[in-house]
Amino acid sequence: MSSLLLINGPNLNLLGSREPDVYGATRLPEIEARAGELASELGHQLVSFQSNAEHELIDRVQQAAGDGVDFIILNPGAFTHTSIALRDALLAVAIPFIELHLSNTFAREAFRHKSYFSDIATSCLFGFGHFGYELAVRAANNYLARGEGA
Ligand code: DQA
Repeated sequence: MSSLLLINGPNLNLLGSREPDVYGATRLPEIEARAGELASELGHQLVSFQSNAEHELIDRVQQAAGDGVDFIILNPGAFTHTSIALRDALLAVAIPFIELHLSNTFAREAFRHKSYFSDIATSCLFGFGHFGYELAVRAANNYLARGEGA
């Protein structure tokens, strides 16, 4: 059994009501519950965390190292495009992670094309909507089992 940590950044607590044409109608608690169930089916434990505050996301990543987290699934929200500090936290703990976005950020405004995470992530998922979270859990499972595919 491995320990997975799902982290969602700013404004993702508003999923379901926030720009549903961009982010879909599914609420974050449903996404987190489905991800947790799937992780359990695959024999893992998944803990979910969401914050709108950059320092809380950084603290949670730092805490993950002490908690023995094996893999992180991260949607940094708008911090994707701004946060060197959150990037540095992930480099510091050296826990493998998937960068995940509901929308295809490359098909949106130019300022969303830059990510501070893509080059240090084991892999990235863009534009699969809430289904991306399921894909990420399956990819994490594959990575943990075989050291590849995430
Ligand atoms: C997002 C994309 C970001 O550009 C945006 O700021 C978000 C959500 C996504 O999941 O598509 O908050 O990370």
